[in-house]
Amino acid sequence: MLENFIMPETLENDVIKLVARNNHQYDEDLWLETDKNRNFLRIYLPWVDKTNSLQDCNSATDMFTDKWQKGENYAYSIVLKATGKAIGSIDIHNIDCENYKGEIGYWLAEDYNGRGYMSGAVQLIENAAFSLGINRIEITTQKENIPSANVAKRNNYVFEGTLCKAIYNNGKFYDKLVFAKLKNA
Ligand SMILES: CC(C)(COP(=O)(O)OP(=O)(O)OC[C@H]1O[C@@H](n2cnc3c(N)ncnc32)[C@H](O)[C@@H]1OP(=O)(O)O)[C@@H](O)C(=O)NCCC(=O)NCCS
Repeated sequence: MLENFIMPETLENDVIKLVARNNHQYDEDLWLETDKNRNFLRIYLPWVDKTNSLQDCNSATDMFTDKWQKGENYAYSIVLKATGKAIGSIDIHNIDCENYKGEIGYWLAEDYNGRGYMSGAVQLIENAAFSLGINRIEITTQKENIPSANVAKRNNYVFEGTLCKAIYNNGKFYDKLVFAKLKNA
């Protein structure tokens, strides 16, 4: 059983900093980017249509704070060092200490796509998680979500298979692709 798995509050590379979403420091940035990118994000992220005010963003942060304390989900704001603004989010969730595994999820404001920021964030999370004893990290995506599947492939996650009609999104069922990386692969 994996013990003492607690992710660090901050992680950084040369261009981005991941800051634990266990306080309200970046709620306003995340709210503005969510609202501005509503059409881009809502295709694959059902929570977007339930986020209609800064207060909704505050409530989400409270939920993430609670899950951080319980060791269930470690969510971070992705902060661009050049501006000091949060431009998206990444988390490691479904932490399963019995089986030493977790799953990464993410979103990034559209204007900041195509620059490798999310790949950098994935690498920061996985390095920290593997060094804390996690053995397997999954990235799952709706089959149609090519940019997200490309993040997994670009970072050497192995495609393991398709879960048929495993996602219910906007009134329809969709196939889910499962990618995974092992610590010592
Ligand atoms: C999925 C998502 C995070 C991908 O973002 P992204 O910016 O394409 O991802 P990366 O950080 O890996 O960047 C890769 C792109 O940057 C380019 N790039 C530039 N510098 C780079 C670098 N140093 N390293 C890697 N890629 C780099 C790559 O060539 C690639 O460009 P391309 O798409 O034109 O080929 C984003 O599209 C998104 O948030 N979508 C909406 C929400 C969503 O679907 N979330 C996932 C739900 S499962």
